[in-house]
Amino acid sequence: MVQATNWDPELYEARHSFVWQFGQDLLDLLNPKPGERVLDLGCGPGNLTQRIADRGAHVVGLDSSAAMIGQARQNYPRLQFVLGDAAAMKFDGEFDAVFSNAALHWMLDARAVAGAIGRALKKNGRLVAELGGKGNIEHIERALESVLARYIGELPLRRTFFPSIGAYTALLEEQGLEVRMAQLFDRPTKLEGEKGMENWLRQFSWYYFEALPNREREAALREVIEELRPALLGEGGWLADYRRLRIVAARV
Ligand code: BEZ
Repeated sequence: MVQATNWDPELYEARHSFVWQFGQDLLDLLNPKPGERVLDLGCGPGNLTQRIADRGAHVVGLDSSAAMIGQARQNYPRLQFVLGDAAAMKFDGEFDAVFSNAALHWMLDARAVAGAIGRALKKNGRLVAELGGKGNIEHIERALESVLARYIGELPLRRTFFPSIGAYTALLEEQGLEVRMAQLFDRPTKLEGEKGMENWLRQFSWYYFEALPNREREAALREVIEELRPALLGEGGWLADYRRLRIVAARV
């Protein structure tokens, strides 16, 4: 499988902790009960996995990044973390709930992932998930693509997808999940400090720049930042134009 991006757990924890901090809200929607078995899909460095465990559930964290799983094991040595690809996971009727925060949009084989989630759940088990939804980071993607088009003819393939409610719920239903709640909403997200956008681009979009010769990457990065300035730099600093798709579904 192509790695979605080269995850840098240190940069992620130092600068992008908002990813899991926003997820705490989603945790309330999951409402894990003592003794339940929960799979945290795309667990990253394990911060929310630990919070699920804090509520008394037995939790397994799964992520396809070896760096993230290494960091999760170091952060929370008492928890179980598995390195693996969600589309290929073989869990069978084992979980009361599958939880996923800000991860499903990296899993491009969405149909296979939805099928694997359905099989992993017990009957009446639930999926509680949040991912980037239709229109997510539209300004950022437009700037990346327009700057890169000036440097090279062919753009790298996108490594994320941001589905609409209709597209994603249809896919879940196809895989035997009954959608009980779906919500698409804007969540402009503050990026810390003057270098907020630069850090974000280096962490999450660097694969675009890797399509360029080394000597051109920094100049292209500056151009993307300049292009984003009018739309995403306000008085309070940089904002990422996030839109979230929140889903609750059940295996019936
Ligand atoms: C997101 O959480 O929406 C996201 C994060 C990194 C890259 C693309 C999208």
